[in-house]
Amino acid sequence: MKEKVEALVREIEEFIATSATEVEQFRLKYISRKGIIPELFQQLKKASAEEKKVLGKHLNELKKSAELKFKALSAGSNTLTSVEADFDITLPPVGGKLGGIHPVSATRDRIIEIFERIGFNTSEGPEIEDDWHNFSALNFPENHPAREMQDTFFIEKNPDIALRTHTSSVQIRVMENNQPPIRTLSLGRVFRNEAISARSHCFFHQCEGLYVDENVSFVDLKQTLLHFAKEMFGKDTITRYRPSYFPFTEPSAEIDISCNICKGEGCPMCKYTGWVEIAGSGMVDPSVLENCGIDSQKYTGFAFGIGLERIAILRHQIGDIRLFSQNDIRFLKQFRTL
Ligand code: PHE
Repeated sequence: MKEKVEALVREIEEFIATSATEVEQFRLKYISRKGIIPELFQQLKKASAEEKKVLGKHLNELKKSAELKFKALSAGSNTLTSVEADFDITLPPVGGKLGGIHPVSATRDRIIEIFERIGFNTSEGPEIEDDWHNFSALNFPENHPAREMQDTFFIEKNPDIALRTHTSSVQIRVMENNQPPIRTLSLGRVFRNEAISARSHCFFHQCEGLYVDENVSFVDLKQTLLHFAKEMFGKDTITRYRPSYFPFTEPSAEIDISCNICKGEGCPMCKYTGWVEIAGSGMVDPSVLENCGIDSQKYTGFAFGIGLERIAILRHQIGDIRLFSQNDIRFLKQFRTL
């Protein structure tokens, strides 16, 4: 048995694996439960006490060196040839698992970046809102048809608590807690009880802008949004204002930009009008300022609400708003470089 052990020591020392399969064969042959070494330990049980002493020592050494060898083989040292045979280390890594930034998040970040540079900070409010912040403080009188502009999800039939229908609720929260000058952006998710289609969803994201100070005028609103449009869609972009109505702004306007795809020539994205709508806006109604404890004799302000999906759709020419929330990896993968 002594010779056998010695022969095995040499055999193991000289063993060269040329592939991962051969490393596994090594393990099976020598150290696995049914391998040669455990087998020898079995045989040792039958030996005399004298023999056990000597052979036991040899066997333990054999076992140790086999285990070390196996470690080295698995790590690839000693077997560089096998690594070369199995893998071409010059090949690029097999990737495909890298994540990316969601196009709505990327659009949000870009908008924040643009407005940060002209002095806007960001603020947040809850997605579950009370009637005061979502409606009443914003001049939506009770039972007024204006409330029907917003199809609301109420929480457990409590008419006072709802999922916010717009980020204008955050305007109120900011003005209740801060005196002018206020220059803030509120970005977040909003909810409306609407049928889901390619063009509308029951939840989406808005970016609310609010600027309140002395002498803020409609000119400031126009200039600020023109600056935004040029930064976002290129310096040739122009804006256009259409009269509109919101209970909390007076006057109110819907803002269009020249279509960034056809540059105003007319294409399917702008329905051949050359213009695409990007925001609702207006001068903050004095009574809204008063509702929040701001002196409307002294201060004026403008506000606007931009749909983030709308901007992302225009930026990337996406044809269906549902794609943003379907989590389809084939869609998301296309934005990996954002
Ligand atoms: N909150 C309005 C909407 O969701 C948009 C808006 C914001 C209009 C601010 C005017 C001023 O439709």
